[in-house]
Amino acid sequence: MARSLPEALQHAFWTHPRRRAARPAQANAATPPGAAAGREAQPATERAAKLERLLAMFRKLNSSVEIADILAMAMDAAIDLTAAERGFVLLEQTGGELRVAVARNVDREKVGRSHLKFSYSIAERAIAAQEPVVTVDAQDDPRFREHASVHAMRLRSVIAVPIRSPDGVLGALYLDNRFRRARFAPDDVDLLLAFADQVALALRNARLVDDLRRRTVELEAERRRVEELLRGQAAEIDRLQEEVLVRQQALEHRYDYGAIVGRGPALRAVFATLDRVVDTPVSVLVTGESGTGKELVARAIHFAGPRKSGPFMGINCAALPASLLESELFGHVRGAFTGADRDRTGLVVAARGGTLFLDELGEMPLEVQAKLLRVLQEREVRPVGSAEAVRVDFRLVCATNRDLLAETARGRFREDLYYRVAVVQIRLPPLRDRLEDLPELALHFVRRAAEQLGRPAPQLSREALRRLGQHGWPGNVRELENVITKAVVLCDGRRIGSDDVDLPRAREGGGRGAPRALPDERAALLAALERTGWNALQAARDAGMSRATFYRKLRRLGIQRPAGPPAERPTERSAEPPSGDPTSARGD
Ligand SMILES: Nc1ncnc2c1ncn2[C@@H]1O[C@H](COP(=O)(O)OP(=O)(O)OP(=O)(O)O)[C@@H](O)[C@H]1O
Ligand SMILES: [Mg+2]
Repeated sequence: MARSLPEALQHAFWTHPRRRAARPAQANAATPPGAAAGREAQPATERAAKLERLLAMFRKLNSSVEIADILAMAMDAAIDLTAAERGFVLLEQTGGELRVAVARNVDREKVGRSHLKFSYSIAERAIAAQEPVVTVDAQDDPRFREHASVHAMRLRSVIAVPIRSPDGVLGALYLDNRFRRARFAPDDVDLLLAFADQVALALRNARLVDDLRRRTVELEAERRRVEELLRGQAAEIDRLQEEVLVRQQALEHRYDYGAIVGRGPALRAVFATLDRVVDTPVSVLVTGESGTGKELVARAIHFAGPRKSGPFMGINCAALPASLLESELFGHVRGAFTGADRDRTGLVVAARGGTLFLDELGEMPLEVQAKLLRVLQEREVRPVGSAEAVRVDFRLVCATNRDLLAETARGRFREDLYYRVAVVQIRLPPLRDRLEDLPELALHFVRRAAEQLGRPAPQLSREALRRLGQHGWPGNVRELENVITKAVVLCDGRRIGSDDVDLPRAREGGGRGAPRALPDERAALLAALERTGWNALQAARDAGMSRATFYRKLRRLGIQRPAGPPAERPTERSAEPPSGDPTSARGD
């Protein structure tokens, strides 16, 4: 029935002396039976004014999310509301201990340490029961008879209300008056409880905000730490990737074939074979059209292998007549034939501990082939005119642009020798079949030519590159090398345009396959020889072909010098003075 009345009337209803005792728990439960609830009920106007103040306090509480502000406001408001002499806001610690968060006296001065004296037991009782505890005179209250502190402090009027939040009780508002009894009106209990609930909400919000702030700060610190870590890891990943790349490259090919430019599938296959053979003693036959890099590969086999510190002795088998070739290869003793005025060490002996490179092996005369086979079988050589055999120790690498197997069928090459020299074959495809290597090769030659000229490397234009890509390259990499070198010399120094690329018209866009011999080739070669006074090296250079190719063509076309010795001894030892000590003859 009381609940159906308006609030003001409810109050009047309960203040009637007969009903007071029967009042339910809300404000009275903690009040001991027989103890008066305190001051007489307030007149309605006073209560209305208090309610108004209470509302203003709620608004004030809600205006802040700072815990310290809320606690201070709560304390001031509670003292104001109850006209208590002293007030304490007590908060429960994590261990359940009560801590004085704020303490004030009636003059709103902070209560000094020595005065922080309140009844723990009364506050704890309110918290445990989650209900207000009120006493009109603690000295006479049977509930506190046993509590020494209550008597020691001479407490009289005390009110403690729990600060209840949805998460549990946070603490208590504790107000007292040490000098007067019955200080608190029953209305104060209601108001204070409502107020404490509001304080709980404000505190809870403030704590959440505080927590949020702290977490934001923590998260920001964590974010920065992770960012730092990631930055470090990114750098580490970069470094590792680089290392992996370097190791991969190193693993890809066990040896550095740096001089051989190009990474297309054809060359990769060549590198893979090289990897397998370089440090074995097996004989290798390198085949491919003229200018494909056979000699380059032969040198790579030598310089990447275990014999690299030994000599690399090369000889072009197409360049010499049989007798001269024989004597170059196997040596002779003084007086072995007319003109043999001293002993001469053959290349097979000079190559001891190193590599013997027989270029244009397909052109080797059959009688020389027979002698070579013997040397390979017996691993010793008997120089021309000598009765004594000399031990030989060389690795054999040969090159040819002929199909040696087909030559054996024609009887022009010994089959038994073929199987001795071609234990492993490395086939170099023509440049037109591996145009993917062309840009890299072109750039390589641009840089090299510029370096030789002592100039900065000009830029190779796209148009120039496109033009290079359309050419048939019958002269293969050597032809490309020559075209690029010429372009570097003739361009404006900054850029190689398409006009700087000088490609012979007849061959441009050229068909597949090796160049056909032009009908006037014989005349052209003769003219070149005449022009250079039969200096074959110079004539070959002028004609844009290797010395070997040049000699081969001379032989094919049956061109011979009318009379007198050849202008050049076309072996690796050609730079040597004819009278030099033959034992010092070393290749590169
Ligand atoms: N892959 C390559 N990378 C760099 N230079 C190369 C490459 N292939 C060939 N060359 C260069 O091209 C020129 C011709 O190469 P090389 O003399 O090895 O060819 P070859 O096959 O022996 O020719 P020939 O049959 O005419 O004797 C050389 O100057 C060589 O350095
Ligand atoms: Mg060669």
